[in-house]
This record gives sequence, structure tokens and C-alpha cells, in this order.
Amino acid sequence: MSFRLQPPAPARPNRCQLFGPGSNPKLFEKMAASEADVINIDLEDSVAPSDKDIARQNTIEAINTVDWGNKYLSVRINSLDSPFWYRDVVDLLEQAGERLDQIMIPKVGCGADIYAVDALVTAIESARGRAKRISFEVIIESAAGIAHVEEIAAASPRLQAMSLGAADFAASMGMQTTGIGGTQEDYYMLREGQRYWSDPWHWAQTAIVAACRTHGLLPVDGPFGDFSDDEGFRAQARRSATLGMVGKWAIHPRQIALANEVFTPSEAAVQEAREILTAMEEAKARGEGATTYKGRLVDIASIKQAEVVVKQAEMIAAR
Ligand code: COA
Ligand code: MG
Repeated sequence: MSFRLQPPAPARPNRCQLFGPGSNPKLFEKMAASEADVINIDLEDSVAPSDKDIARQNTIEAINTVDWGNKYLSVRINSLDSPFWYRDVVDLLEQAGERLDQIMIPKVGCGADIYAVDALVTAIESARGRAKRISFEVIIESAAGIAHVEEIAAASPRLQAMSLGAADFAASMGMQTTGIGGTQEDYYMLREGQRYWSDPWHWAQTAIVAACRTHGLLPVDGPFGDFSDDEGFRAQARRSATLGMVGKWAIHPRQIALANEVFTPSEAAVQEAREILTAMEEAKARGEGATTYKGRLVDIASIKQAEVVVKQAEMIAAR
């Protein structure tokens, strides 16, 4: 480890972030009653420009009146290239009560985007005497966002999470696809006439995980558009979990259980992690730094790997 230690990410479950448009208030009670860890009411791209004002009002009313239980409550504001974002921030901070936990800033391209929102939020919190400090999450969904991902991750102590937004990301990069996440038909390797599909999201995801882990944020996989394809969602989510992401968005309620399933360590995985920790305790007692577990090497690095699984399971159980 470097002299500079890796800061821990916020210790709260973030397995599923359920989205719903602020312009569709009949969804709010259903969202609150769901099994998602995080709720994202959207003011951005699922809301038509003509509905921005009403969506903002609906959202503030819902924050203040709906029983959100123990959910982490976030609102996605409009992006900084739009004329809507400042009004989103001002009205939310002035009119929504202390139940609001977080603001999601989409399409961030540089650290200064976060700085601008932070300055505005800080001024309103202070002017209004708000007791709870609002946290931020961001979406990396442009070429500039991924190019400046580390600068963005370091931009504010309010930042808690960072998601990959596959659709806008693909558009900004000029990728030839209209799919939102998942396997892309034309992204394959050829060997002896057989096609083997590779993962076009891998690089962006890994860059996000590295930036998040460096600065103590939660890395999250964004939307999977085809909500009738459960196996496609599972495959995408499993790749994300394997790379270090802690959760995934749901854009339809049927995706919630899938995300919770993939991002909750299985009993077998937790059992194995505990056995590795026990094996290493016994090795330590014998004065050894490495030993054999089920025919394979485990050493001091294995303790850290096993602790990731055990800590995740314990945090979810304590929810
Ligand atoms: N949250 C909670 N409940 C939802 C929901 C959501 N996001 N989306 C749908 N439901 C409910 C429906 O109201 C319906 O409930 P009912 O059985 O009580 O009638 C049930 O789930 C089945 O819905 P279905 O008919 O399959 O979908 P739909 O046609 O009503 O809505 C979408 C489909 C995609 C328009 C809708 O799911 C949606 O708006 N998703 C979120 C989009 C979003 O926020 N995008 C921004 C981030 S990318
Ligand atoms: Mg987007």
C-alpha cells in the first residue's frame, strides 16, 4: 500500500438504484415500497422539457410526504449544459425537507462541474440553516467524463457514488450501437470461424472502479435497457460485480430482485471467505504467511479479498 491509504467507501448497501420519472407521481409509492436500496427520482432525461416544472414540484412534494422508509433518497437533476439545473438545485434545497439524502449530477465532464453545484448547494444549505449535508453522486456518460474520471472522483467531499451511464456514454464516444449496456452483436473476436463476444463496457467500468476506490466512492453500473431480458441483465451485473462495482440501476421493477441477487454475496461465497480467514488464522498461529485451501494458494492478500466479501455480507445483513 502507498503511504496514502485507500479511503473506505460509504458503508451503506447500494445494490439497486430504482429510477422513476418525476413527472409520473403514481410510481412514487411503488418505488418507496420496493426492495431497492436507493431511490432516484428523475428530473432529467425521462422528463420532457415541457414537464420540467411540474416534475420538480411533484418530486418536492413526494420527498416531503411519502414514507421512504430506510431508503437512500436521491434526485437526478438536469445536466449543467441545460437551462434547468440551477432551478432544480435551488427548489430542492429550499423546499424539500431533510429527508432528501443525495443529488445525482448527470453528464459530468470535469471536476469543475461538481465544484459549481457544490458552491450553490453549500450557499443554500447555509442560508436556510439545513442541518443535514446533502451528498452527491455523479454519472460518467461522456468522453470528457471518462477522460477526467479521477479528477471528478476527487472533486468534492460530498461525493459518495459514481455510475456508468451506458447510453449517453456510447453516443458521446460515437459507438455504433443503440443498445443500453450488455452484449453488443458486433463486438466479437474470431477464432477458427467461431465468434467470441467481448465486453465493450469493460474499460470504462474499470476506470470508474479505480477512480472510485482511490477516492472512497461507491462504483455503480448504470441502466440495462432491455427490461424483458433477465439473463442479459444478470450477465451484465455479474461482470460489474466481478470488476468491483457494488450495484446496478433498475429502470423497471423486475430488475430490482435481479440486482439484489447479484450484488448480495451468496451464502456459499461468504462461507468460503470465512473458511479462508480461518485457514489464514491457523497459518498465522503456525508462523506462516501462506497456506493451502482446497488445493490452492491463499496468503495475506487472500485475507483482504475474503474480507471484501464478508464485510459486504455483514453490511447488507445489518440493513
Ligand atoms: N418504479 C416503480 N414501479 C414501476 C416502475 C418504476 N420505475 N415502472 C413501472 N412500475 C410499475 C407499473 O406502475 C406497474 O404497476 P401495476 O402493476 O401496479 O400497474 C408495474 O410496475 C408494471 O409496469 P409495466 O406495465 O411493465 O411498465 P410501464 O409500461 O408502466 O412502464 C417504463 C415502463 C419503462 C416507462 C417505466 O418502467 C419507467 O418509467 N421506468 C423508469 C424510467 C426512468 O426513470 N429512466 C431514467 C433513468 S435511465
Ligand atoms: Mg444519461
